[in-house]
Amino acid sequence: MARASVDTNSQSSESAAEPDVDAGAEQTRRSMLLGALATTACLGCSTQACAGEDPPGSDERPQKGDLLVFSEGDQEGKLITAADLKVGGPPVHAWPKDPTSAVVRSASRLNEILIIKLDPADLDEKTRARAVDGIIAYSAICSHAGCPVTAWVKSDVGDKEVFKCMCHNSEFDPRAGAQVVFGPAPRRLAALPLALADGSLSVAGNFMGKVGGTQPG
Ligand code: FES
Repeated sequence: MARASVDTNSQSSESAAEPDVDAGAEQTRRSMLLGALATTACLGCSTQACAGEDPPGSDERPQKGDLLVFSEGDQEGKLITAADLKVGGPPVHAWPKDPTSAVVRSASRLNEILIIKLDPADLDEKTRARAVDGIIAYSAICSHAGCPVTAWVKSDVGDKEVFKCMCHNSEFDPRAGAQVVFGPAPRRLAALPLALADGSLSVAGNFMGKVGGTQPG
């Protein structure tokens, strides 16, 4: 950088070389100093911006007592109640929300949840024991390579509708603990215990099972 400054000055001025070299070197030092200050200031700004975008607790996993809000669509951010769920699906996509701070825990995609209401008679014994009025919840993150599970479609291997990850077509049966019924996913979706009181849904405990994928997409 010092050499470039000297060359530029020598071309643009016919005055004595030595003062120009000093002036060029000084200019370079000042430029470097200002650049360093600007970089530091930018880093500070982006840290503050991040802190502003992601309030404390927004990337924590769902906590007992958290409420549930829509994570997408026209009702994004609105509280989900039992009345919002239709028996037989489709599932609703949700984020947990801290009821005290009102922070929606949406800073980690691993926190997205699928909530579905099914006929309790269709659930296997373990799933029925965990369900509240037929309502059950699972992680929305595929256990294969971590894509979001977005579809509710008829299974490739049966006549029932299942959760489907469109990345590599893994299918999960919510009636049976979201076990894998088709595709490369190595394990079921993590389940999230729910509580229901006066029509309001809340989280009743931590995820059961590992959340997220096991290999890169
Ligand atoms: S990431 Fe879901 S099937 Fe591969």
